[in-house]
Amino acid sequence: MAEIKTTYMGLELNSPVIVGACGLTDNADKIKKIETEGAGAVVFKSLFEEQINLESIELQEQLSAYDYRNAEMGTLFPKIEHAGPEEHLNKLRKAKESVSIPVIGSLNAVFKETWIEYAELISETGIDALELNFYHIPKNVTKESSTIIEEQMELLYRIKNKIKIPVCVKLSPYYTNSLRVIDKMDKVGVNSFVMFNRQFQPDIDIDSEKLVQHYNLSNTDDFKLPLRITGWMYGKVNADLCGNTGIYTAKETIKLILAGAKAVEVVSTLYKNGIGQIGLINRDIKKWMDDKGYENLDDFRGKLAMESVKDPFAYKRAQYVDILMRENEILGKHNLL
Ligand SMILES: Cc1cc2nc3c(=O)[nH]c(=O)nc-3n(C[C@H](O)[C@H](O)[C@H](O)COP(=O)(O)O)c2cc1C
Repeated sequence: MAEIKTTYMGLELNSPVIVGACGLTDNADKIKKIETEGAGAVVFKSLFEEQINLESIELQEQLSAYDYRNAEMGTLFPKIEHAGPEEHLNKLRKAKESVSIPVIGSLNAVFKETWIEYAELISETGIDALELNFYHIPKNVTKESSTIIEEQMELLYRIKNKIKIPVCVKLSPYYTNSLRVIDKMDKVGVNSFVMFNRQFQPDIDIDSEKLVQHYNLSNTDDFKLPLRITGWMYGKVNADLCGNTGIYTAKETIKLILAGAKAVEVVSTLYKNGIGQIGLINRDIKKWMDDKGYENLDDFRGKLAMESVKDPFAYKRAQYVDILMRENEILGKHNLL
């Protein structure tokens, strides 16, 4: 039977399927179930800057409500002890202790000092690696894109120098040239690139004429951008590559590995199909490998990366010119003429 073990950022994984940060990974009980289903690792739900701020505001309010009491009486209010991001850190510690698969922490901050302070605090919980969720929502017409990248580079450099565990960067798909960003970050010693994050986008309900926010699950075709960039960068960086977005089944997982990925992160498929999907993906990868005669993932990893294929045309094309020129041939093949 085929073997689907893999290394990722120097960690040993029993499967290339990692459950990405989401509401399904926010406590030890859920993570235990995910382990039982056969996930290779899990990314604990992110600690968000808003959470840190909100909770410290709440803490301030609770503390000032008891201003008239003396300091020793703080123990009368056990809630205070767990207020703030301390609760997140406790949950993370507990999650790590309850499973044997690697647990990756995730941080989603805005301000420089918050990133660095919490990267260190999270890394001290005993987790195996830290994922930095780098994204930028445009809010300022005068801010240059180069400034945004420089800020992220500085953060990365400082965090890499501060913490000892492996660091992965979950990238936004919206850089002008993500290849350059990956190349620069790789030189700082990032251990893995997770491609890509999926941001919540606003929507409008035309009946109520109000702005709404949905769960924003990905679509099955969304894996193609991660596939393109993985295929481009395989063999060109020291970091591991991890596909994320639109990976629903073993098929997309195999495609990402053929392009060069060490692992994939899945979320939307678990919301739509349940966490039993993890085991199904594992079984179907093994079945495909058995059919093809592959014994382990390295036998086919990167086989269809840009550097491995004779004609890397597909990785370079953005427009439909070639497809339009061969339209009759393609339509005929799909019985559409
Ligand atoms: C309900 C939900 C919660 C999420 N929470 C987080 C989070 O806390 N941190 C994070 O980095 N990404 C978060 N994400 C993004 C996912 O980790 C993942 O990057 C994204 O959904 C794309 O993968 P998918 O196509 O498999 O869903 C969340 C996604 C969903 C749907």
